[in-house]
Amino acid sequence: MKFFLDTANLEEIKKIKSIGMMNGVTTNPSLIAKENIFNKNEIDAHYISICKLLNNEENLSAEVISTEYEDIINEGIKLSLLSPKIVIKVPMTINGIKSIKFFSKKKIRTNCTLVFSLGQAILVAKSGADYVSPFLGRLDDLSFNGLQLIKEIKEIYDNFKFKTKILAASIRNPIHIIECAKIGIDAITTPINVIYSLFNHPMTNIGLDKFLKDYRKKIK
Ligand code: E4P
Repeated sequence: MKFFLDTANLEEIKKIKSIGMMNGVTTNPSLIAKENIFNKNEIDAHYISICKLLNNEENLSAEVISTEYEDIINEGIKLSLLSPKIVIKVPMTINGIKSIKFFSKKKIRTNCTLVFSLGQAILVAKSGADYVSPFLGRLDDLSFNGLQLIKEIKEIYDNFKFKTKILAASIRNPIHIIECAKIGIDAITTPINVIYSLFNHPMTNIGLDKFLKDYRKKIK
């Protein structure tokens, strides 16, 4: 199961990379807007800086902000030329799906984002996308069951042996990651705090504290 970090922040990427728990990075326009970046050139330079932190097996999903077909294609091609590690993130729209078909023929990798239903997930797989990003947390926020959607996408993709990988997005807590692992999906993308919360258990802290106290009492 691959772990992507959902961030555009270089320090966060360095931190998770240093503990060896990162297989790539996903960004979106809101995450880019949180960084100290003010124009297109700076965004491109920022994507290149992220790619420099990744090895050749890791990739970065960089999202287009265009919505018209021709514009998505032009923007996606430019992004793909920044680095071979870049996967073009395209929203789940008619123009988005058309663009993914185009990119797929050109062997440019894609991640279809903002997926909230089974119908959308089927279209994504048929378009030849490399990744589908169903938004778990945002569904839960609306009282829909995000994990149920992930489970059913997996069933459908298995039925047809679709090659599109499921990359569960909008992760809010460690239970989301654990349940995705049980379902057997390919990857999750998560904010840094959720990765840290996977490490935590109060009994680990209490146990370690006692081990060290016992040891220090006796051994100088
Ligand atoms: C997907 O790739 C998005 O970047 C992301 O997971 C959205 O998460 P949010 O709902 O926490 O904004």
